[in-house]
Amino acid sequence: MSRKAHERINHKERAIEKRDKMLKHDISSERATVEEVFDNATFMVIYSLLKKGILGELNGVVNAGKESRVYWGKDLKGKDLAVKVYLTSSAEFKKGMLKYIHGDYRFKRVKHDTKSLIFTWAKKEFRNLEQAYNVNIRVPKPIAVKNNVLVMEFIGKEGIRAPSLKNFYPKNPDKIYKMILNYVKTLYQKADLIHGDLSEYNIMIWNKTPVIFDMSQAVPSTHPLADELLKRDIENINKFFKRLNVKVYPIKKACKMVVNKNN
Ligand SMILES: Nc1ncnc2c1ncn2[C@@H]1O[C@H](COP(=O)(O)OP(=O)(O)OP(=O)(O)O)[C@@H](O)[C@H]1O
Ligand SMILES: [Mg+2]
Repeated sequence: MSRKAHERINHKERAIEKRDKMLKHDISSERATVEEVFDNATFMVIYSLLKKGILGELNGVVNAGKESRVYWGKDLKGKDLAVKVYLTSSAEFKKGMLKYIHGDYRFKRVKHDTKSLIFTWAKKEFRNLEQAYNVNIRVPKPIAVKNNVLVMEFIGKEGIRAPSLKNFYPKNPDKIYKMILNYVKTLYQKADLIHGDLSEYNIMIWNKTPVIFDMSQAVPSTHPLADELLKRDIENINKFFKRLNVKVYPIKKACKMVVNKNN
C-alpha cells in the first residue's frame, strides 16, 4: 500500500475515533441533563440519530410544553437544528389526536395504543411539514422523524428561537397578514392541507417573514373537519390582525379566496 493511502486510512480512522469520542461525550453529558425527561426508548432514538450522523449534538430545551419538548441541536456541520420530542400523553390528548387522524387518508391503518398514536402524530407532523415545504411555504425544513422524535430546521439563531407572532409587533402588519393568507391558500391548493391550529402562537417571524410551524394536526381537504378547521384558522388570523388595525377580509370571502382556484 502506498504511503498516501496509509495516511488517508489513518486520517479516516482518527476522524472516526474523534467522532466516537464526541458521541460518548455528548451522550454522557446529555444523560445527566435529559435523563429525567427522556424515557429509555426516547434516549435510544436520540442515540441512533447521533450515531447515524443526523444529529451532531443535542443541547438545551427551547420549549417545554405539556405534550412535547423542543430542543436545540446541531448537525455534524454545526448547523442549528430543532428536535421535537413528543412525550407520552394524557387520555385527553389521545382523544384530541384521534380527531385529526381519523379521516386522514394518509393514515388509514393506525393502532390505537398510546405509543403508536404518538409515533403517528410525529410522522403526521413530518409529512405535513414536507408537503408544505415542497410547495415553498415557509415552514421549518423537515429533516428526519423516528418514533417520537422529529428533527427539523431551527428557526432562530444560536439556540434562541425566533419570536412568535404573538410577541412580535410587525412593522408592516398588512403585508404579514396577506403573506399568511397566501400561505393558507397555497397550503390548501398545492399541498391539499389545512393547518388546523393556525394562530399567532404557531407562527414565528424570522427575517421579516412569517414561518408556520406546529403542524401535526394539519389535515387534507377531504378530512371531515376540513371546512370547520379552515374557517377557524382564518378566524384566528383575522382576530389577531384586526387588533393591529389591519383591514381584514370577511371570513366568508377569505375562505372563498383560499379555496377557489381563480382568485
Ligand atoms: N423549528 C423550530 N425552531 C425553533 N423553535 C421552534 C421550532 N419548532 C418549535 N419551536 C419552539 O417550540 C415551541 C413549541 O413548539 P410546537 O408549537 O411545535 O409544540 P407544541 O407541542 O404545540 O407546544 P405548545 O403547546 O407550546 O404550542 C414553539 O412555540 C417555538 O417557540
Ligand atoms: Mg404550538
